[in-house]
Amino acid sequence: MNKGIAIYPGSFDPPTNGHLDLIQRGSKIFEELVVAILRNSEKSPMFSVAERLEMLRALTADLKNVRIDTFNGLMVEYAKSIDAICILRGIRAISDYEYELQMALMNRKLEPTLETVFMMPADKYSYVSSRLVREVAQAGGPVKGLVPEVVEQKLREKLEPAYKFHDANIGEAAADEKSNKKTSDKKRKKKA
Ligand code: PNS
Repeated sequence: MNKGIAIYPGSFDPPTNGHLDLIQRGSKIFEELVVAILRNSEKSPMFSVAERLEMLRALTADLKNVRIDTFNGLMVEYAKSIDAICILRGIRAISDYEYELQMALMNRKLEPTLETVFMMPADKYSYVSSRLVREVAQAGGPVKGLVPEVVEQKLREKLEPAYKFHDANIGEAAADEKSNKKTSDKKRKKKA
């Protein structure tokens, strides 16, 4: 285990199984891992910072060296304020690399003593992102296996109308299919 504190910053809107996988891996490598939620994001989030904090705390309750916190402004300044020596970020695919490299080099320019460490989540999560989870859930689609159960439940609560609409439409399509089948069965019988 590495001596020292590492920071795992992000939006976590919402936390996914990929995030959790990375937190678990990071907690085995660093003495302490601080998962830091950005508070002043320009994007309008689906979950409030308080909701994300609560979800992440529940998800990491069994990891004794993991702490959840929030930060404002420059990440490197927050990292320095908690004596972190390292920034942990996940890379899922080559497409992440360019953005992550740019961010790591900018952070190094801002604070040369902080190293960025990249880790890969399990390959089964390589296509999972908070953005896609939000998109699927907003359309009432299933997100089982992509996010922890607590998050799935929170998404359902928040997006209940979308799920109802989706379920109603699925029901309509199935009913249409059934009645189409009946009509063609009748036609076939008539012909015979
Ligand atoms: O999960 P995300 O949205 O990819 O996380 C991006 C995050 C929060 C790590 C990044 O936007 C960030 O650190 N923002 C804080 C402001 C900052 O320090 N910007 C300079 C980084 S190059």
